[in-house]
Amino acid sequence: MSLLSRALLVSGSLGLVALLNAQPSITLDLTKPGHKVSPMLYGLMTEEINHSYDGGLYGELIQNRAFKDNGRTTPHWSGLGETKLTLDHEHPVTPELGVSLKIEGAGPLGVVNDGYWGFPIRPSTSYRCSLYARCEAAKSLEISLESADGTKVYASGSVPGVESGWKKFDLLLRTSRTEATTSDARFVIRTTGGPVWLSLVSVFPATYGDHPNGFRPDVLRLLQDMKPAFLRFPGGNYLEGNTFRDRFEWKRTLGPLEKRPGHQAPWGYRSSDGLGLLEYMNWIEDMGARPVLAVFAGYVLNHDVIDSNTELQGFVNDALDEIEYLTGGPNTKWGAKRVADGHPKPFTLDYVEVGNEDGFDDSGSYEKRFVQFYDAIKKKYPKINVISTTGGKDWLGLKFPIRLRKPDLVDEHYYSSTWEMMAMATKYDSYDRKGPRIFVGEWAAQDVPEPWTRVNEKGPTPNLNCAIADAAFMTGMERNSDIVEMSCYAPLLVNVNPGGRQWAVNLIGYDTLSSFGSPSYYAQKMFMANLGDWTVRTAASGMPTQSQGNQTIDALFHSATIDSKTGTIFLKVVNPQATAQAVDFRVVGAKSIRSNGTQIQLAGEDLKSMNTIAEPMKISPKTSNVSELSERFTRTFPAHSVTVLKIETR
Ligand code: AHR
Repeated sequence: MSLLSRALLVSGSLGLVALLNAQPSITLDLTKPGHKVSPMLYGLMTEEINHSYDGGLYGELIQNRAFKDNGRTTPHWSGLGETKLTLDHEHPVTPELGVSLKIEGAGPLGVVNDGYWGFPIRPSTSYRCSLYARCEAAKSLEISLESADGTKVYASGSVPGVESGWKKFDLLLRTSRTEATTSDARFVIRTTGGPVWLSLVSVFPATYGDHPNGFRPDVLRLLQDMKPAFLRFPGGNYLEGNTFRDRFEWKRTLGPLEKRPGHQAPWGYRSSDGLGLLEYMNWIEDMGARPVLAVFAGYVLNHDVIDSNTELQGFVNDALDEIEYLTGGPNTKWGAKRVADGHPKPFTLDYVEVGNEDGFDDSGSYEKRFVQFYDAIKKKYPKINVISTTGGKDWLGLKFPIRLRKPDLVDEHYYSSTWEMMAMATKYDSYDRKGPRIFVGEWAAQDVPEPWTRVNEKGPTPNLNCAIADAAFMTGMERNSDIVEMSCYAPLLVNVNPGGRQWAVNLIGYDTLSSFGSPSYYAQKMFMANLGDWTVRTAASGMPTQSQGNQTIDALFHSATIDSKTGTIFLKVVNPQATAQAVDFRVVGAKSIRSNGTQIQLAGEDLKSMNTIAEPMKISPKTSNVSELSERFTRTFPAHSVTVLKIETR
């Protein structure tokens, strides 16, 4: 029965206009193609924040392994009994490490590391331990993973042959088959009589793919499951650093760990740089994604900037070296270095971003700095898309439009309230199609204003309310994916242990033992897995609205795409309302429509619902079969829901 005839049928009692207004309708028009969907639309953004790497994705279990976290004290290390700990700058293993830990005292000596909120102890598990040690008179060291109170040893081993010169020792610590799973653990090195010096003390559990210096498998798997098109790295603020000394200096993140000095990260703790440039690329390869490389552009977070041509050229050259390191053949200087570092095959690099949030550079120097980078990169690598961090239409971008060159893309950032995010679902409908193309390089719906200052008020991960607003915004990006080429949510990762985070709301949470995706994670995954390659033109009528103050916006959001090879339509509908919403659909121009389809739905009654370590899947998508799909059909979308409906048209 057609909409009109059904309306007429009941018009006697309800009135035609009332009925048509009461039930929204959406027409999917396949008679003319929409536009191509950017295959790069959904990626990931990463930086060292919230213990994303150290104490997160990066597998290292010893916190402050190189004793550099504080120039005077030894955070995360303590002496057992009378053991005295001091930092010794006289005999470093390498200039880059620069310091070692001296342990001394009368009688038995012991030094304890408390890890990143404990250690992940699991049955039948091997832990690769390595360390540098030297002493005055030959000794052995006893190493163990044990309970935090020292009453129970989970795994142990011995290091014989410590001598007067630095030697590197490797050993495997293995838990028994019957060992319990716990994070209530510490790492201890014991010896008799001192002094003994230690450097670069490291413990890795099983890593993803068993790669040395590798990643924590559960967190990596959550990321892989999203099948992201790209990874934007290394920041964010982490690219810039608070001062010039603290920027991400990629050359100092390469090679053996002994040669990596580490650096102060902008979010209040030090980065070991164990996850360095090549590890980023391994991570990207492990996810089957592509790199979006941000290069340091002469501006740091304390507002210091280098805007003179000559001085800035050093940083431009550094960026060219970095691109050569990633993409160059073995006959290039930096390509050869990559080969020597263990990756013979050049990487493909299509996107380079110049700086990060340079709208904060009040001196207004960015445009000229951008030009210097743009020209140099385009001259040597004409095919690389060069991204500007200002010039978009967010407030940072408006401040400094780029007129002297046309960036291939501009990066826009939005940390917005759930209401604003829903309002922005139509933002790109009116964007200038002549470009530049848009990279929404950081975005997230927040139910806390200024999430960087009110860290403990909400979160640590988004609730259902945020996920619904996120999904509403994604319908807008998808509908406009002729101009919105790429997008990535931020921040990506958070260690949910007390004191682990610097940002209130983050996509994926973990503690020492387990990890979980937030409702927003699942909303994104639903969109990412059901992207299609062409948009389907839609026309909607009778859509409900919602109001706040003087502003009225949609209260139902949708987008539709199609896989042009299989004919599957991916219809996404977001219902933020507190009541279910029925919608009439009409599909025009399909050869045929299979009556059976699939629905993937994320929904919940309480907008405040969150996933947690204890309830990791509380708000997660449910897949079900649906029937009675045809040229005209009606579906009801539950309150607070995000739905992907897969309709087979051939
Ligand atoms: O993602 C958190 C921070 O937000 C990023 O480091 C920065 O680019 C932005 O201001």
